[in-house]
Amino acid sequence: MPIREMKESDLPRVLEIQQELAFQDWNESQFAAELRANYALCVVYEADQGTSLVNGYAVFHLLGPDSELLSIAVSHNCQHKGLGKALLDAGLSRLSPKDKDRCFLEVREGNSTARKFYEKNGFTLFGTRKKYYSDGENACLYSIDLESRTN
Ligand SMILES: CC(C)(COP(=O)(O)OP(=O)(O)OC[C@H]1O[C@@H](n2cnc3c(N)ncnc32)[C@H](O)[C@@H]1OP(=O)(O)O)[C@@H](O)C(=O)NCCC(=O)NCCS
Repeated sequence: MPIREMKESDLPRVLEIQQELAFQDWNESQFAAELRANYALCVVYEADQGTSLVNGYAVFHLLGPDSELLSIAVSHNCQHKGLGKALLDAGLSRLSPKDKDRCFLEVREGNSTARKFYEKNGFTLFGTRKKYYSDGENACLYSIDLESRTN
């Protein structure tokens, strides 16, 4: 499986992917803080293992019995090849072992690609936050029951 934990040396490439997709604006210090946080799980998709050629990443938070997917991204050229699903499955399966019940996420209402991706991978829409983003766009709130996912 070409998925491994994110390292500090991956951050330039992770930032490059984020900038290419222009969907979020975390800086290097924010990613570095995630790497140090004991409540965070940060993974990357490394196409050719050992080459450090990273094509995608995901960041999860572990919050008591719940967890949250904060960010998932796949470099444009590598999309629609299953990398997103592989990152999601790898992260969720690391969260699953008995102590995590649900995983939550929020996504821009207009991000139809990501919403379709989440829905296809078992997330259910349970609400919206009106004008959640600074530009006034609504956030859609999704969750997945980790136990039912493994059954
Ligand atoms: C959301 C995102 C991570 C999905 O990544 P991805 O690698 O394209 O995801 P997958 O390849 O697993 O699935 C996407 C589609 O490819 C299809 N697919 C997967 N493997 C495939 C293959 N081998 N051949 C053809 N199609 C394939 C899937 O069925 C799915 O199809 P659908 O769009 O019709 O449902 C990606 O679009 C992205 O980085 N978006 C920008 C960042 C973003 O908005 N992130 C979410 C907000 S935090």
